[in-house]
Amino acid sequence: MNDEPQREGLTRRGLLLGGAAGLGAAAAIGIDRAGASPPEQTTFGEQTIPFHGSHQAGIATPAQAFASFYAFDLLDGVDRDSLKKLMPILTDDAERLTAGEPALADSEPELALVPARLTITFGFGKEFVRRADPEAVPSWLGPLPDFEIDRLDAAWSDGDLLLQIAADDPVTVSHAARMLLKDTRTFASLRWTQKGFRRAAGSVPENATMRNLFGQLDGTANPTPGTTDFDGLVWSTDGWLTNGTSIVIRRINMDLETWDEVDKPGREQSVGRFQDSGAPLTGVNEHDEPDFDATTSLGLPIIAEYAHMRRARSDNPDERIFRRVYNYDDTPPSSTVSNAGQIFTSFQADVDKQYVPLQQRLADLDLLNQWTEPIGSAVFAIPPGCEAGGFIGETLLS
Ligand code: HEM
Repeated sequence: MNDEPQREGLTRRGLLLGGAAGLGAAAAIGIDRAGASPPEQTTFGEQTIPFHGSHQAGIATPAQAFASFYAFDLLDGVDRDSLKKLMPILTDDAERLTAGEPALADSEPELALVPARLTITFGFGKEFVRRADPEAVPSWLGPLPDFEIDRLDAAWSDGDLLLQIAADDPVTVSHAARMLLKDTRTFASLRWTQKGFRRAAGSVPENATMRNLFGQLDGTANPTPGTTDFDGLVWSTDGWLTNGTSIVIRRINMDLETWDEVDKPGREQSVGRFQDSGAPLTGVNEHDEPDFDATTSLGLPIIAEYAHMRRARSDNPDERIFRRVYNYDDTPPSSTVSNAGQIFTSFQADVDKQYVPLQQRLADLDLLNQWTEPIGSAVFAIPPGCEAGGFIGETLLS
């Protein structure tokens, strides 16, 4: 790939420098006195995530550093037959790009050669499924109920088709998006895009819980991919959606200006965890189990009744979700210096049974609501994966 011209450059430079000065310079740039080249460098850019499988990639996949979300409206006249054309085209290009190969009609094939754990995950909104097969629309597919805390903007909400494109390199994400958006042009119009980020690949240990822009460890109490617990909570067992799931995407503004005014104990009380370690206020380490019965000397609960963690936890073990969130940071309006927040995404087999009761509890009471405001909301069915020769959506469209 791109290390070839570089090596050539080093050799030429070594020759040009010559003599002792040349050897010193050569050593400084990594060529030993015997003239041997340094070992071949491998980069995370070469890493791939398999596209094929019973589930789509990009859900149980350890979260990449960058994720962009693209929601489309289907054009008038796009029917089941059109969708049967669209999805194999998208699948074919997604297969190629995630393998580090150019898309079929790739205008910049060089950009495809760094997959950087690229995943492309497709979701279907209510209208997509209705046009494919009106009988097949899951009961939970569609806008969430209204919550009192919502200040939703149509510019970040709903949609018929979703592409979640994630990789450890933002150029890879951008290129994949361009190729796939070209594929959709005669079938759908772009409704909204959201671009999210986490820490860059390699800057924190693998599997470290991410920090959101409030500085909190976010994702500690989450089902673990690969466990039967995760499988039961996330993968659907219902008809064409078997081995698929659902995604809820909430764009949540986080008011960093007023958060700045909160002291450390106040911040910790709002969630029920220590800001630095992420441990529950009754524990020491991040993954310690919280003790919700523990009280202070005055008899008050150490983890307050209004703490986000307490409100987000249900006695019903089925009311759980898998969170895979990203930060966003947009241009602020002139009145402030921040326009940041969270692209909250969660995966669950059944939105109504798992997500809605949890969101309702948080809408009813959660101290974090003081600094957070949902401004976008969308729900999509995530069809199962496919094998080579198949296409995403085949269980609905074939
Ligand atoms: C900007 C908005 C939000 C922020 C800043 C935020 C932050 C956090 C933090 C810091 C934790 C504790 C660490 C952890 O377990 O991850 C947490 C836990 C959690 N949050 Fe959120 N959250 C937000 C929105 C939401 C929403 C919208 C939901 C679901 C409707 C949600 C569901 C949960 C759940 C289920 C937990 C784990 C609770 C447990 O300990 O069992 N959060 N959140």
